[in-house]
Amino acid sequence: MTGTVTIVDHPLVQHKLTLMRDVNTPTAEFRRLLREISLLLGYEVMRDLALDHKTIMTPLAEMSAPILSGKKLCFVSILRAGNGLLDGLLDLVPSARVGHIGLYRDPKTLVAVEYYFKMPEDLADRLVIVVDPMLATANSAVAAVERLKEAGASQLKFVCLLAAPEGVERFRADHPDVPIYTAAVDDRLNDHGYIVPGLGDAGDRLFGTK
Ligand code: PRP
Ligand code: URA
Repeated sequence: MTGTVTIVDHPLVQHKLTLMRDVNTPTAEFRRLLREISLLLGYEVMRDLALDHKTIMTPLAEMSAPILSGKKLCFVSILRAGNGLLDGLLDLVPSARVGHIGLYRDPKTLVAVEYYFKMPEDLADRLVIVVDPMLATANSAVAAVERLKEAGASQLKFVCLLAAPEGVERFRADHPDVPIYTAAVDDRLNDHGYIVPGLGDAGDRLFGTK
C-alpha cells in the first residue's frame, strides 16, 4: 500500500502561501496567514467525516438535517511550529482533544529528538490528525507517527503546509497507511535539510525567534 498525497491547490491557499514564503513578510502577518490556511486545509482534511441525521425544527418546518456523527477527533501538534496550524483546526472543531509532541531536529544529524509527549488516553478510539507546517526529511513526522502508533493510534492523517519530495517519499514508505495533506510539494532539500524554495525556518518565522 502506498500512502495518498492530497495537494490543496485552492487559489486562496496558494495566494496566502506565496505571502508566507516572502522573506519580507513579518512575524505577525506570517502567523495570521498560517492560521487562515489551517482553516482551509482543515476543510479538506475533514471532508470525509461521517454525518448522521437529526430531526430539528426550522422556523418554517421540521426537517431531518445532517450533523457530525460524533466521531472522536484528536489533533496532535508537533512542537513548536505545529501550534501555528492547531488553533485554526480548533476553531473548526472546538470539541476535539489535543495532544502535543515535542520534537526538534538535531542541526547536525537532522535526527528528530523527542522532549515532550502528552496525549489523551483514548487515542485508539479517535481519528488522529497530526499537524506540522514542514515535511522536510520527514524525520520528525515519521518519528511522531511511530510514537502515536505505539500509544495506540490506528487511524491517522498528517497535515502540513509545505513538503519536500524526499520527505513525501520517506513518509509514504514508512507510514503508507497515513494520508498526507499539503499546500505544495517544493523542488528539493538543501544540504542543511531545508526545503527549497520553501519559506525558511517555520518555527522561527512563526514566533520571531531569529
Ligand atoms: C521543523 C518543522 C518540523 C521539522 C521538519 O521543526 O516544524 O517539525 O523541522 O523537518 P524534518 O522533516 O526534516 O524532520 P524544528 O526541528 O526546526 O523545531 P521547531 O518547531 O521547534 O522550530
Ligand atoms: N524545518 C523548517 O522549519 N523549514 C524547513 O525548510 C525544513 C525544516
